[in-house]
Amino acid sequence: MNNSQQIELFGQALLDYHNGDSDAMLDYCRDDGYIQSIPVGLFFRGVTDMPSDNISISECKGRILDIGAGTGLHALHLQGLGSTVCAIDVLETTCEIMKRNGIKDVRCVDISCFNEEPFDTVLVLGHTIGNVGNLSGLRGFLSNLQKLVKSDGKVIINPLDPKYTKDPRHLTYQKFNVENNRYLGEVRMSFKYKGKKGPPFNWLNIDSDSLKNIAYETGWECNILLQEENGNYLARLEKQNF
Ligand SMILES: C[S@@+](CC[C@H](N)C(=O)[O-])C[C@H]1O[C@@H](n2cnc3c(N)ncnc32)[C@H](O)[C@@H]1O
Repeated sequence: MNNSQQIELFGQALLDYHNGDSDAMLDYCRDDGYIQSIPVGLFFRGVTDMPSDNISISECKGRILDIGAGTGLHALHLQGLGSTVCAIDVLETTCEIMKRNGIKDVRCVDISCFNEEPFDTVLVLGHTIGNVGNLSGLRGFLSNLQKLVKSDGKVIINPLDPKYTKDPRHLTYQKFNVENNRYLGEVRMSFKYKGKKGPPFNWLNIDSDSLKNIAYETGWECNILLQEENGNYLARLEKQNF
């Protein structure tokens, strides 16, 4: 998973938006020169704005862990419904936003160092899974997750499937990856915010068949709950031996 230094500008942008800069924009700069500008308000969306968020909420049961909770939109909603939620994020800035918003159990911690009694439901939403960086990162993340999930528990993951794009710039980037013996959905990028460019880091967009295969290798059954035309999808992982 990426560390807090690599994605610090992401947290700064979110904190600025929270403090009133509602026009804040964050640039995702890929190493081939492609730049995507994202309105920071996206991370403050209503929890019922997107089908993938709605379905994720409806899947939740019991004690919940929200990994890479960001502004805490899911955690706050679930807490309001009476659920017990632990929201974790590696950034102090996003944890500060969550605390100000009234989320009771916020932990500022890297998921790779997080140990706790197993949960009934684990959420990895809003493309947070991209922070694993590459296929071996995904394998490690899903293996480690076993200890955080009860035997009859589940994980809800919301990735982006890179195979859905028709944009020639993305297709060329994917082809370059494959020619260089990398998985097509690996991205090398950095954030740019208010004229400042952050350090490079790796990001992973994973197609649903590869996710199913790696989930199976690491002890999970994987079912796809939603697939959208833009590649956004939702997967439910349950323990194989249950
Ligand atoms: C793309 S944002 C998604 C936020 C939120 N889940 C949503 O749906 O809007 C990914 C979040 O994961 C957090 N994150 C990245 N690496 C992490 C790590 N190693 N441990 C915990 N959180 C991490 C980031 O700080 C960020 O808030």
